[in-house]
Amino acid sequence: MTDVDMFATSDQRTRYEQYRQLRELGPVVRLREPDTYAVTRYAEVKAALADHTSFISGEGVGFNPELNQMIRGTTLVSDPPEHDLLRSVVADGLKPRVIRGRGEEIAQKARSLVADVVSKGEIEGVRELAEAMPMSVIPDFLGLPERNRDHLYEWAKVGGDLLGPVTERTPQNLEMTQSMVRFTHELAENREVAPGSLSAAMLEAADEGVIPPEKCPLLFIDYINPSLETTASAIGHLLVIFAERPDQWAALRAEPGLVASTINELVRYESPFRGFTRVATRDTELGGVTIPRGARVWPLVASANRDERKWERADEFDFRRNPIDHLGFGYGTHTCAGQGVARLELHALIHALLDSVERIELTGDPVIAENAMVNTYAEIPVRLVTGKAA
Ligand code: HEM
Repeated sequence: MTDVDMFATSDQRTRYEQYRQLRELGPVVRLREPDTYAVTRYAEVKAALADHTSFISGEGVGFNPELNQMIRGTTLVSDPPEHDLLRSVVADGLKPRVIRGRGEEIAQKARSLVADVVSKGEIEGVRELAEAMPMSVIPDFLGLPERNRDHLYEWAKVGGDLLGPVTERTPQNLEMTQSMVRFTHELAENREVAPGSLSAAMLEAADEGVIPPEKCPLLFIDYINPSLETTASAIGHLLVIFAERPDQWAALRAEPGLVASTINELVRYESPFRGFTRVATRDTELGGVTIPRGARVWPLVASANRDERKWERADEFDFRRNPIDHLGFGYGTHTCAGQGVARLELHALIHALLDSVERIELTGDPVIAENAMVNTYAEIPVRLVTGKAA
């Protein structure tokens, strides 16, 4: 058991040192506050995520009971068989072939975004690039209407933070989440979604009696909430990582075939999501520790992805590594449903940057965002120096 505070904003810069200390304490460490069994090492995190009957999601995947209740019954906060039914509703629209079919459209969006920021030279990287990329892709991909697009990002952002324990930010975050919930109900009632889109497939599933109609707003939440800030987090880290490692940027420009490897390493090295929680349904042994029935369990994917037992030079970023078995998109039954889309966005954006940006230079200190569960930046002052790839 440890008294360490895993949520103190003051420790954000030393988060990976904190994870290392927890891993040394053991594969499963009980946190006193909030009372939780943190799973710290790769093997045990993977085992916990694989065992979805001992460690369930239906009792909430965060620490905040109100939020857990609010999003209960979404794909994220449900268990098989209900969970599998909800995932099947969108399965066709998320098939690799279908996603690849959007490749040129997404590449075009990335190129136009990069042309715009490159013409400015110096930008605030979070707002102008990291957030702008998923915002240019996801609302259209989901088939959402134009109204409220200004709010989507903020809603997604507070959703991640709200999964953490209650803070002074909680009341305002809850209010904003309630606005999002109201919006998703209006979308379902008024059928305000683009024909042929992922959201339309959800409404059709209800029309055909595959799912009850009241599931539609919950499914909209499923795909609005985790699809924006996570990808933006990865893009923000991409900027900072390559600004700090100009040699690796130059090497990647010479070998653009390694973009897929770079994406895996990015999501391993700076996992956007620290880890979703579970609840133990029975006394379960994990890593030599008995986790009692009813306990909240926190498989820390961000720590697993830096576990020195699993990875050589775990704390080094190396775009050539291609760590295909990282846990940054989760593992098991709840593994990220939108990772194909996220990868395509990152792929398109990195290629667009490689084509025209010779150097990424920080023009000030990046500011880490105050967010309990998403590892991301609030501000990245950055200059994109142009130069054609060789
Ligand atoms: C770099 C970007 C992303 C990262 C790192 C990420 C990470 C994750 C993780 C770790 C989970 C597992 C949740 C759990 O274990 O309880 C998850 C689930 C999920 N993600 Fe993503 N995600 C990303 C982008 C997206 C996008 C773009 C979408 C939608 C288009 C999306 C939709 C979902 C959904 C619906 C789930 C719930 C799946 C389920 O419970 O079966 N994600 N994501």
